[in-house]
Amino acid sequence: MPPAPLALSSRSERTTDSPINGLIRLALENPALVSLAAGLVDEESLPVEEVADAAADLLSEPAAGRAALQYGTVMGYAPLREKVLHRLAASDGLRPADMNLTPDDVVVATGSQQLLALLGDILLNPGDIVLAEAPTYFVFQNVLRGVGARVLTVPMDEHGLDVDALESLLRRLDRSGDLPRVKLIYTCDYYQNPTGLTLSRERRPRLLELARRYSRTNRILILEDAAHRELRYEGDDLPSVKSFDRRNEHVVWTATFSKPCAPGLKTGYGILPRELVGPLLRLKGDHDFGSNNLTQHLLDRLLASGAYDAHVARLRQVYRAKRDALLEALAEEFRDAPDVTWTRPAGGLYVWAMFPAGMESGPSSRLMRAALDEGVLYVPGEYGYSPACGPVPRNEARLSFGVASLDQLREGVRRLRRAVRSASRPAGRNAAAAACAAAQ
Ligand SMILES: Cc1ncc(COP(=O)(O)O)c(C=O)c1O
Repeated sequence: MPPAPLALSSRSERTTDSPINGLIRLALENPALVSLAAGLVDEESLPVEEVADAAADLLSEPAAGRAALQYGTVMGYAPLREKVLHRLAASDGLRPADMNLTPDDVVVATGSQQLLALLGDILLNPGDIVLAEAPTYFVFQNVLRGVGARVLTVPMDEHGLDVDALESLLRRLDRSGDLPRVKLIYTCDYYQNPTGLTLSRERRPRLLELARRYSRTNRILILEDAAHRELRYEGDDLPSVKSFDRRNEHVVWTATFSKPCAPGLKTGYGILPRELVGPLLRLKGDHDFGSNNLTQHLLDRLLASGAYDAHVARLRQVYRAKRDALLEALAEEFRDAPDVTWTRPAGGLYVWAMFPAGMESGPSSRLMRAALDEGVLYVPGEYGYSPACGPVPRNEARLSFGVASLDQLREGVRRLRRAVRSASRPAGRNAAAAACAAAQ
């Protein structure tokens, strides 16, 4: 007799598999495929020697080694918390005290993704509203769906999130009586995943001013996801939105060692308004009573020795060359296709491509099938949009230059060009039938 059906919680039933996981699996199973989809980092430049040296150094001191192999605290290794705080303040030309911050406002986590998920849980009830960029980071959308939040999106332009549109949306929500349900504004403001766009300097204080002004019945927090800030390839660094939040009231800052160092270390950190630290730690304690302590000690040594900064400097060169190779290949291959456009990121790992209106790029589209036939993979742009906000653009794609080599990037774009050509041809009877079958 089969067992009785499992009765999962409604929280679990709302939680879906990230569509990106399927794409990553596909790329791993087909090594001949050029993956412009995966968010993985450049393999060759992973800091194997630096981490080996830090580990040898740490474990050669028995007391330090034992401390690193013991459980740590839920909040994270104190010297590491202190260092990341000073680094954030220094990159904004400030001292922690200028932002009313101490190391006790810093939490180290198992990747910044853990912080995003915990924040969703401690802040949001089903039906609460989160305002996010359109498009936004796919995986955080999943988190928000899981907690039952309503995601309302705000358009972006070449200067990042459109703060005028945000203000209009807040005004509308105020008029409709929904303002008390707005808890969070989520922005990935440096070289955004997925578009590569960056919030301009002028818009940064304005974003905070809007959050403050519309915090009437409850505080509207800004979640500033700065996962890619350190991967800057041109121009000056921009001040964080957090740096304008001098009383540490409105901005939750999250960042990670995954992209600028190694995702296998799976360590991120958050800098939070003080009242959030307790609730976050209580839930985190239930999850793990502390993230991996050994990696925190290793990262602390990498920061202290200067190996981390030297690595980031080298990594910037590697990714700058990759970004340039991708952009040059796009310009070359699509020079006769003015209706295909793309962003030009100043950092990060992503370029956002826009195909002609009507050329769908979704998982069962002709373009996706043609791309797979040609041997190239991208992420359909529609995954970044919330269906609650009107028609979803279906002719866009995220192209990542993280993991592919320079040659693979050039080859990937050649294949994409052939796929776009093939998807532009009028569909024959068989192709149309196949499209219907694939969409079932
Ligand atoms: C924008 C953004 N935020 C957060 C994360 C989470 O990264 P991690 O958990 O490895 O720190 C990622 C990873 O790709 C990301 O792109």
